[in-house]
Amino acid sequence: MPPFDVAYVRSQFPALGRTVDGQPAAYLDGPGGTQTPKRVIDAVGGYLATHNANGGGRFVTSEETDAVQAAARRAGADFLGCEPDEVSFGANMTTLAYLLSEALGRSLQPGDEVVISALDHEANRGPWLQLEARGLVIREAPVDLATCTLDWPAFEQLVRPGRTKIVALGYASNAVGTVNDVTRASELARDAGAWSVVDAVHYALHGPIDVMAVGCDFLLCSAYKFFGPHVGLMYARREATAQVEPLRLSTQHSEPPFVWETGTPNFEGLAGTIAAIDFIADIGERHMALAGDRLPDGLRGRRRAVVAGMLACEAYEQPLATHLRRQLAAIPGVTLYGPPEDSPRTSTVSFTLDGFLAGEAAQALGDRGLFVWDGDFYAARLVELLGLVDRGGLVRAGLAPYTTQGELERLVTAVGDLSRSMR
Ligand SMILES: Cc1ncc(COP(=O)(O)O)c(C=O)c1O
Repeated sequence: MPPFDVAYVRSQFPALGRTVDGQPAAYLDGPGGTQTPKRVIDAVGGYLATHNANGGGRFVTSEETDAVQAAARRAGADFLGCEPDEVSFGANMTTLAYLLSEALGRSLQPGDEVVISALDHEANRGPWLQLEARGLVIREAPVDLATCTLDWPAFEQLVRPGRTKIVALGYASNAVGTVNDVTRASELARDAGAWSVVDAVHYALHGPIDVMAVGCDFLLCSAYKFFGPHVGLMYARREATAQVEPLRLSTQHSEPPFVWETGTPNFEGLAGTIAAIDFIADIGERHMALAGDRLPDGLRGRRRAVVAGMLACEAYEQPLATHLRRQLAAIPGVTLYGPPEDSPRTSTVSFTLDGFLAGEAAQALGDRGLFVWDGDFYAARLVELLGLVDRGGLVRAGLAPYTTQGELERLVTAVGDLSRSMR
């Protein structure tokens, strides 16, 4: 099988030329936001240079702007596996989640229940927790802390027909990489007569999303996590949108997908989002063989290429991540967090290093041009439950398709040096 062409992928990212004190920058901060390929940068700049206008006008730049918005919905639909009118855009996932919680919360009664998880980013907890002020009851599904996986028996007991009205679960943990079975969660929600909401922000960089197969009502993600600009995307199943009243101005379109979009859209961001999705499709076109048997039958055009692109990236990243975990685990003082090797997980690797607060380790690595994140990454509940608050949380190295084996070897060497410095 032809290998993943990491040299081609890297050639697309101007930022990869950056150095820190003579060392090439290693961008292991992807779960916080990836780098952007040149075509995305050009699309954003190109929109502002030649098409910039508000939408809905009777002149050429406004018509072009409307066309960008329509094209972004088609690209979003190819990314998520839905129809263009089921794709809405917003400032970011968090803002969209608040709008969604308002819309769903308005139609519920005191005593109705919402199920969230202790594993999730606060953006998929806070918007639901604020519904407590309306008398809704929020139930938190626990996590098996030894494996950082959802406690499924407890989750299943919490989703109760007639009582539960919303089930909100992350597709993947941005803190430790656990991939949740959101198809099962959506089915449980459906059977209970509840809406299902999936936070796919972390997963979106790590695997193809098929909202039809997941069977959820709503799914949210952010383009800046998959090579795009700072724009949030939301899939809202057409029938689900029809049942709720999103917060909107009386002057705003009442039809989906516009009904979810407050104020003037980030048109240049939409132009960049199209280019980001086209970039993933480009990777897919070049690596169809790597996607192999995992590429479902019946897909066409850009959707097929996007799915192939995501599969190819994971086929490249997963063995690198496994190798990285093995090497880090062999370093004295390193503790890895995350699910067992045979469980679904993203290529995001989190650890602590004895003798160092997470921030101290991240600073020392950053000084060597190794850009890793430290802290709780807003997955504050999980980090609290893991008892890591006093240690400054976790150190997180995230792989992206532009990550190389050499960069990971530099990381292992640097962590090894830090470990030795403590002995
Ligand atoms: C899993 C997860 N959910 C939600 C968010 C919030 O996304 P946004 O920054 O688009 O609001 C993040 C951001 O890191 C995330 O990783």
